[in-house]
Amino acid sequence: MQIFGAALVFVCDENFSILHNGGIVFEEKQDRILKVGDYKELCALYPNAKMSFYPNAVLLPALINAHIHFEFGSHLAQFCYGDFGAWLDSLMTSRDEVLNSGNSSESIILQGINEQINAGVGSVGAISSYGNDMPILAQSPLRVVYFNEAIGSNPSAIDFLYSNVLERLKNSKSLASSTFIPALALHSPYSLHPIMAQKLIELAAKDLMPLSAHFLESAQEREWLTQSNGYFKGFFSQFMNAANSKSLYSPKSFLDMLIPLQNNALSLTHCLHITQEEASIIKSLNASIITCPRSNRLLNNAFFKREFLLDSHIPLAIGTDGKSSNNNVNLLDELRAALYAYPQEEILSLSQSLLLSATLYGAKALGLNNGSLQEGKNVDFAIFEFSQPLFQTHQSHPNQSPLQFILHATKPTHLFVSTKAIL
Ligand code: BEZ
Ligand code: FE2
Repeated sequence: MQIFGAALVFVCDENFSILHNGGIVFEEKQDRILKVGDYKELCALYPNAKMSFYPNAVLLPALINAHIHFEFGSHLAQFCYGDFGAWLDSLMTSRDEVLNSGNSSESIILQGINEQINAGVGSVGAISSYGNDMPILAQSPLRVVYFNEAIGSNPSAIDFLYSNVLERLKNSKSLASSTFIPALALHSPYSLHPIMAQKLIELAAKDLMPLSAHFLESAQEREWLTQSNGYFKGFFSQFMNAANSKSLYSPKSFLDMLIPLQNNALSLTHCLHITQEEASIIKSLNASIITCPRSNRLLNNAFFKREFLLDSHIPLAIGTDGKSSNNNVNLLDELRAALYAYPQEEILSLSQSLLLSATLYGAKALGLNNGSLQEGKNVDFAIFEFSQPLFQTHQSHPNQSPLQFILHATKPTHLFVSTKAIL
């Protein structure tokens, strides 16, 4: 039995409860939190437990990076930012070079994994296009929801591409464990043939697998899906040898295809260009949205419109996206960027919401039983020690420790995933 306590415990429940001098109890090798509460009371209840208390520290659930690509890990300055079309053109031209130059080699993926651990991330939603990262992620100490991603709109290629994704899915199922969860991703409505999408949705529904898709990331994607016009018209004729092609979905027809997944962990990433009506459909699907603020700023000059959340109460998770659309994959840096992206919001409640995006709502998006320090949840937590207390109870102003945490957290001193200390 072990008890860990800290001056501040961020429970990461819906109300953002904070315990002063709180703690959690768990048993070695039993991946369930036994109790959460006042540290001294826990010590009195379990007098034989091993006890550790950290006075200038915050104890919170291990963070969740809900959307990251470990492949494409090692480029520097290859891609064009500031316009989604220019970025996709630059990706298409340098994709093979980036992948074939050993850039998705083991060391790059390990570097991405270390970057997660060093930022207090215990769980990731890993989007994999090729499967190169599979064995490394399966062996890593992270809890991984491994999204085998399907792409391909050309009907003559879909048999091959579909069998490729099935093969990757089969391989990931052979590595499945409580910390490596096979899942499926649909790349996006502009890049995936509906026949393949339909089959994968049926598979995911049957096995209750998590499923994720990029959705309405760019104005160009919206123009294509609603008018079959604009940037993607040129894209399909230039890169796909498919002049005169038309969008295979409307935004609504894509979302409607996901109806069989209402009981799955279902997430849509970006959603920068959704309408209120589409937000209502996303809500009715019981889906989560995942936002990647720095990627959105670099590729699309915009941040997710958080106003959509007020009326619809859609859970909003957060991710770093991959290095092809970010300067690093550090989730703490992502939270800091997000903090500065919404100057119209009250800063303390924004800080609390962002921390819930990186914990409670990340777990919801990925279908995990963690992200909150509550009885029965998995034993995934982080302790960040600071040189001074982030808040003292005698202070008269409101408890700003969630804001101070986002500003000052750099590296946890302890990180546990599935009861094991990984840092
Ligand atoms: C395709 O394979 O059809 C595709 C790939 C990337 C972007 C768009 C389409
Ligand atoms: Fe992505």
